[in-house]
Amino acid sequence: MKYGLIGEHLAHSFSKEIHELCADYTYEICELAPEAVPGFMQNPTFTAINVTIPYKQTVMPYLYEIHEHAKAIGAVNSVVNRDGKLWGYNTDFYGLSALIRRVCGSLKGEKVLILGSGGTSHTARAVVKAEGAASVLTVVRNPSAEGQISYAEAEANHGDTDVIINCTPCGMYPYADGASHIKGTPIDILKFSRLSGVVDAVYNPLRTNLVQDALDHGIPAEGGLYMLVAQAVMASRIFLGRVEEAFSDETAMDEETDRVYRRILASKENIVLTGMPSSGKSTVGKALAQELGRPFVDTDAVILQRAGKPITEIFSELGEVGFRDLETQVVKDVANTHTGAVIATGGGAILRDENIRALRRTGRIYFLNRPLEYLIPTADRPIASTVEDIRRRFEERYDRYLATCDVEIKTDEVMKHTLNTIREDFFS
Ligand code: S3P
Repeated sequence: MKYGLIGEHLAHSFSKEIHELCADYTYEICELAPEAVPGFMQNPTFTAINVTIPYKQTVMPYLYEIHEHAKAIGAVNSVVNRDGKLWGYNTDFYGLSALIRRVCGSLKGEKVLILGSGGTSHTARAVVKAEGAASVLTVVRNPSAEGQISYAEAEANHGDTDVIINCTPCGMYPYADGASHIKGTPIDILKFSRLSGVVDAVYNPLRTNLVQDALDHGIPAEGGLYMLVAQAVMASRIFLGRVEEAFSDETAMDEETDRVYRRILASKENIVLTGMPSSGKSTVGKALAQELGRPFVDTDAVILQRAGKPITEIFSELGEVGFRDLETQVVKDVANTHTGAVIATGGGAILRDENIRALRRTGRIYFLNRPLEYLIPTADRPIASTVEDIRRRFEERYDRYLATCDVEIKTDEVMKHTLNTIREDFFS
């Protein structure tokens, strides 16, 4: 291996994709057992590697020189082999500071809360200090060191916090809504009346509950994908011998990060279609999926498959509420387990907030706004089998479709226009 990543469990790493978008080397993913690390570092055959959990500290004794950011954090995520001597860097420092800058601008004079005390939290502390924050507190479940406070204390006594940075795994796949051992949302942002930014290091899902809570209240917020891309972009520049540029040309680094981020985001994000029955969600969805070479999922088809009976029968046996409960389960499962897919939803999927939350976690929502006169009743649609039914639901739901979408697409008779509008928006 000349270039690549070492770590213990790497099946879900995005690093190969990201590096190969910003450099022309081949990047390999290399899982190493702990006992293999010393040999790997003592007789290096690589040109440059990234290092991830749990080896960011393990590799440090093998290094000839360690960059100041890596020293400040106490961990190394990039190692370059120069004539047999190993040089260590930490590009997570730039990754997190680029994300913070994007979400909050400057941290000068700000009061910052960092949630969690693991590796990312150390990076956050180093970055926040370097950015000139006025005060930094670390929030943990059981405070044991100076500068640490509990969640209860943070919510009760630090309501004047400006910026929250989540470095815990709360909200991470597969426990996006939490489970018995982990919360889905680390902290209640409504306890902080002055917040001007929320940064979440979690990138799977793309928008955690914490990020969505903030956005729902008009507070700028973003997940960790931008950080992941930024650290990789900087590592790639160091790997290519462009160390000077990596550490001094912030504009070039940010521009390259933006370019690669847009590509990676588009490849991971789902395209979600909402709209009234017979507005064309399935037809447009299938055509779009085919054009883009993406998987297509129809939540109604999944419901039908799981229940083993048509939707009309589900309605008559379980009533509308029973159907909606099934729909919520399916919407959550489909949203949580797909990336880079096209998802067509049933017309009523927008009715429940929890459905929208799940869809928005991993996707961008397009409302296919087809005029009422083009919506055709059909017998297999229990709530849309007559013109009158459709008109009533259209009037009841119209504002909800608008309020829950990211983009409204006014559809006309020509499907090509709809496909083009979605594609242009999604890839811009
Ligand atoms: C419904 C729409 C249907 C289906 C169910 C309920 C609705 O999907 O989920 O019959 O409440 O609008 P389509 O929008 O694909 O017809």
